[in-house]
Amino acid sequence: MVGANGMLGRDVVAALAAAGERVRGLGRDELDVTDPRAVRDAIPGADVVVNCAAWTAVDDAEDHEAQAFAVNALAAANVAGAARAVGARLVHVSTDYVFDGVARTPYAESDPLRPASAYGRTKAAGEWATRAECAEALVVRTAWLYGAHGGCFPKTIARAAGERDHLDVVQDQVGQPTWTADVADVIIGLVTVSAPPGTYHATASGRTSWFEFAQEVVAAAGRDRGMVRPTTSTAFVRPAPRPAFSVLGHDRLVAAGVDPIADWRERWQVAAPSVLDS
Ligand SMILES: NC(=O)c1ccc[n+]([C@@H]2O[C@H](COP(=O)([O-])OP(=O)(O)OC[C@H]3O[C@@H](n4cnc5c(N)ncnc54)[C@H](OP(=O)(O)O)[C@@H]3O)[C@@H](O)[C@H]2O)c1
Repeated sequence: MVGANGMLGRDVVAALAAAGERVRGLGRDELDVTDPRAVRDAIPGADVVVNCAAWTAVDDAEDHEAQAFAVNALAAANVAGAARAVGARLVHVSTDYVFDGVARTPYAESDPLRPASAYGRTKAAGEWATRAECAEALVVRTAWLYGAHGGCFPKTIARAAGERDHLDVVQDQVGQPTWTADVADVIIGLVTVSAPPGTYHATASGRTSWFEFAQEVVAAAGRDRGMVRPTTSTAFVRPAPRPAFSVLGHDRLVAAGVDPIADWRERWQVAAPSVLDS
């Protein structure tokens, strides 16, 4: 398990341990995935390698694309090559940002990659590099992650709700808020059923906007959901463009015999106490 100290990585390690697996979680301090030799030395002995290491600073990537590429693409190739060399099953984590975000229906696993941001380009390159180095890899795309072990949208909103009278949140970006613990379960499910190589989407079912999700977060934090006001992306311009439509379809997951994650709202109800109290 590489990138083990990140928001998703921490929950993957916890889920594997809870499933009774012997798991070695390597954070950046123990394994810098941009160092090919260190990666080659670290992987032997593993039956399964989960790569959660990534440059995830979406806006910073616009000005530091080469550095983001080094982690998201070149280092992904390091991990994939090392996994293939020892015959380990590889799970590589990717993102909805590989798509252009202009679709009207959920993106299929096989849809063409058309990233609109530097981060998205580096992650798309990481998918290609992973497949090129390790044809048996499972590429698991997720999106709109929140979890107990990192900065995330619900924590930001809950904190702001305690400090302000109202919050303006964009209504024109649609996606699937997804709990890291649920993605960890999907990853374990795919490995358990020996899923065929290829791409899978691990996001919650249903869809919503950041505005509507913020209302749910505020309610879970014990505040009046009416304090959240809708706004548009044009009022919140950021360095990297955000996909307007980030809904991912789950057909390949179903075909592999792994249950897709349940509806985002239902999962948020379950996740909220552990996420907001962390
Ligand atoms: N967060 C989201 O909404 C979201 C959405 C879609 C997909 N994803 C994908 O999900 C995966 C996990 O993301 P996350 O949300 O858990 O992000 P995260 O909390 O930023 O975790 C990424 C981890 O990778 C580590 N890392 C960075 N450079 C490294 C290097 N050179 N060697 C080893 N480790 C390195 C980071 O360590 P440091 O903390 O020390 O830098 C961090 O612990 C990524 O592939 C990301 O693209 C995330």
